[in-house]
Amino acid sequence: MKMEKIFNKDVMAIDTYIMVKLKEKTANLKDGLTKKNRAPIALSMGAPTSNPPQALIDKLKEFLTEDNIHTYSVTRGESYFREAVSSRMKTRFGVDMDPDTEVCSILGAKDGLANLIRFIIDPKTEDKEKDIILIPDPGYASYSQMIRCSGGKDYSIPLTEENNYQPDLNNVLEQLIEDGYDKNKIKAVIINYPNNPLGVGASRQYIQSVLDFCKEHDILLISDAAYSDLYYEESEKPFSIFEFKGAKDIAVELFTLSKPYAVTGWRLGWICGNSEVVSRFAKGKSTIDNGIFKALQKACAYIMTSPQGDDYIKTSNIAYKRKRDIIVKGLQELGWDIKPENIPNTTFYLWVPIPRKYNSCVDFCNDMLEKSGIVIVPGSAFGKYGEGFFRISYVCSDEKLQEVIDRMKADGFRY
Ligand SMILES: Cc1ncc(COP(=O)(O)O)c(C=O)c1O
Repeated sequence: MKMEKIFNKDVMAIDTYIMVKLKEKTANLKDGLTKKNRAPIALSMGAPTSNPPQALIDKLKEFLTEDNIHTYSVTRGESYFREAVSSRMKTRFGVDMDPDTEVCSILGAKDGLANLIRFIIDPKTEDKEKDIILIPDPGYASYSQMIRCSGGKDYSIPLTEENNYQPDLNNVLEQLIEDGYDKNKIKAVIINYPNNPLGVGASRQYIQSVLDFCKEHDILLISDAAYSDLYYEESEKPFSIFEFKGAKDIAVELFTLSKPYAVTGWRLGWICGNSEVVSRFAKGKSTIDNGIFKALQKACAYIMTSPQGDDYIKTSNIAYKRKRDIIVKGLQELGWDIKPENIPNTTFYLWVPIPRKYNSCVDFCNDMLEKSGIVIVPGSAFGKYGEGFFRISYVCSDEKLQEVIDRMKADGFRY
């Protein structure tokens, strides 16, 4: 059987997800590295390694024995989950969100994004005929692949130090036209603040300009708010796009339980905002899944609206800040010029230039793995503007982070 005949060419072109590739490569090298006292330390996955809140686990256990809990759920999510979302949006952001019309559950932000993208794109094979979605670059590695395998075109919004990671979308539009694309093909813009992999947030003024741009051009704004609860300074507390007047006219926002409550394996989140978009999305998705296991929804509804949930987030943010400081101090000792104003106060990522003697981020990351057992992600995995950088995900223990610095010192990795 010829796979080219069975699968469409965009799916055929998709490579194994970068994190999976790194995991496989690390597994192959593990024995050799362990023998030379360099057992792999993963700073690659954006997945918390701590335990979820105890109250969440206890509630899940309790709900497992309830009547009717093991049967199909519904795509939109159980009413108790949607009501908890609505309540969370109010207490966390001061935003009103109607649980019946403006909220839909998703199996994590990845599922929400992948389905939303394929529902809005009319698949085409010719490059210039494709529907376009503007995506942050560097940005979450899945955006471009989701768009391509849905038959669409991803077009980069360059996030650079020069534009303070908040580029004027009018400049992006100009460039897109110069590149020969039809601006009327732009269906959506994805923004992601706080940003993976950069760890940066956006100003309110910038978000207002993005909303104005989307309104002017009749484009859907998709805000990926996966990291909105990971912040270390009250002054940089991430906000929701729905804190802006009129945002519901043109926008949806996606949230996930994965990161704030360390439940990446549970697959739970929500999309909210424009009721017509949410409704279309829910209809489309109802042909694909039957929602999320009810016990998970119920336990998550509890934690999102309980003081234990907020305490957990506070405590883990204190721990992440400490971890960030260990890694920043270590890199500074190794010659990296990380200025106080450039130290990120959101997410658990650090975006760092590769040492001067390297021309390629892949070469540097390969050396770090093969010589020192340190697993980091090359910047180019996040887009063409990521070359020259690497991403550290500081989710492991403090001791392991110190060990990373000690190994880099011993093995001659300096800026
Ligand atoms: C920016 C961003 N969006 C979405 C996701 C997906 O999160 P999940 O599917 O676990 O909710 C991730 C995961 O790393 C991410 O970094």
